[in-house]
Amino acid sequence: MAMNLSTEFTGLNFVNPFMLASAPPTESDTNILRAFDAGWGGVVTKTIALHPVVNVDAAKTKFIRASSETPQITMKKIPNSVLHSSWNWELTSDKTLDWWLPRLERIKKAYPDRIVVASIMAGSGNDKELRNWQELTKACQSAGCDALEINLSCPHMDRKDMGANVGRDQGLVSVVAQAVKEVATVPVWAKLTPGTTDIAVEARAAFNGGADAVTSSNTFTALPMIDPETLEFEVNVDGFVSTGGLGGPAILPLSLAKMTQLTQAFPDKEFSGIGGIAAFEHALNYFMLGCGTVQVCTAAMLDKAVGPNVIKGLNEGLERFLERHADKGWTGIGDVIGLRRDNIVAHSQIRRPSGKEYGGGRIAEGYAAPEGSRMEPSP
Ligand SMILES: Cc1cc2nc3c(=O)[nH]c(=O)nc-3n(C[C@H](O)[C@H](O)[C@H](O)COP(=O)(O)O)c2cc1C
Repeated sequence: MAMNLSTEFTGLNFVNPFMLASAPPTESDTNILRAFDAGWGGVVTKTIALHPVVNVDAAKTKFIRASSETPQITMKKIPNSVLHSSWNWELTSDKTLDWWLPRLERIKKAYPDRIVVASIMAGSGNDKELRNWQELTKACQSAGCDALEINLSCPHMDRKDMGANVGRDQGLVSVVAQAVKEVATVPVWAKLTPGTTDIAVEARAAFNGGADAVTSSNTFTALPMIDPETLEFEVNVDGFVSTGGLGGPAILPLSLAKMTQLTQAFPDKEFSGIGGIAAFEHALNYFMLGCGTVQVCTAAMLDKAVGPNVIKGLNEGLERFLERHADKGWTGIGDVIGLRRDNIVAHSQIRRPSGKEYGGGRIAEGYAAPEGSRMEPSP
């Protein structure tokens, strides 16, 4: 029996809850159309700013791999390796707003049943900058975009009033959300940086400013490794590097912890989850923590640039999952949203063993107990 994969998020109808995140997979109309051909329910465009940027004179993205045979973690292509993460220092779109607008219109006309979210970014230091947010908002919604995602999360912007520097400032988060909401006729999602102590603080500011949903995580601030042979950073320009953003498998558990801070603080609000998703089993974590949609970047980049196999796996995984749990009366992903949110509690609330069986805690996997120890391995 074909299961119903559709869902509703911020009042929008999705054919499935899987989206491409704002990044290279959504940097052009050709990519986005290919993504919709492949079955993605929605896309968030590469972040559009009023002024196109010039990127660094080196690869904008690299992939970090871990060896199954040695302790190596490197951007070099090594045998018997698995993906550890992606690292990037790419800026906003290098295309102008005028380049984007007719293309957004064409994409929506070609795929009226798919969700197109425009990711936008401007500065926030003064009224003129806030008007730039409004100009981007009005232009993208006029072109037919279904929603806007305000990028308050890019980790490598030097300007103090842009990207993650805004996302770290609850005052600015509220001001930007409010400025966009003043002119928005479509839902507004705020993509917040994971680089703060408690992301719920900035989420509160976004919701106070009127945001309809919060998206997390963007990439985590990270450096490339130093090559032990050349003693240079594995990515550099003339020997220099800046911090960039880490995505992919390595950030899945980190991003889930951030998402928990969000969904526990605001169980009645809507969240779009990102970070390390390559398969339905990964996405399921975000749904069970309280997300209504999820977004994918790194896994899609490595799968023919827009993830045709990834989306096939996600859709099939969801279908199998719903079939397996049909006896519970679940008919769609909506039935599992938030089911494990309240199982994350303070450490002190986790049950301890009773006195007589206590042996210093159960032995961790791979932990060598001292010789002659009477500690039993965990079952
Ligand atoms: C090369 C690259 C470029 C990105 N550009 C943007 C961007 O323009 N806007 C944005 O909000 N996020 C951007 N991101 C972040 C992704 O949307 C996503 O939040 C992050 O990669 C985590 O997801 P993943 O683990 O599936 O890669 C970019 C990520 C990468 C790797």
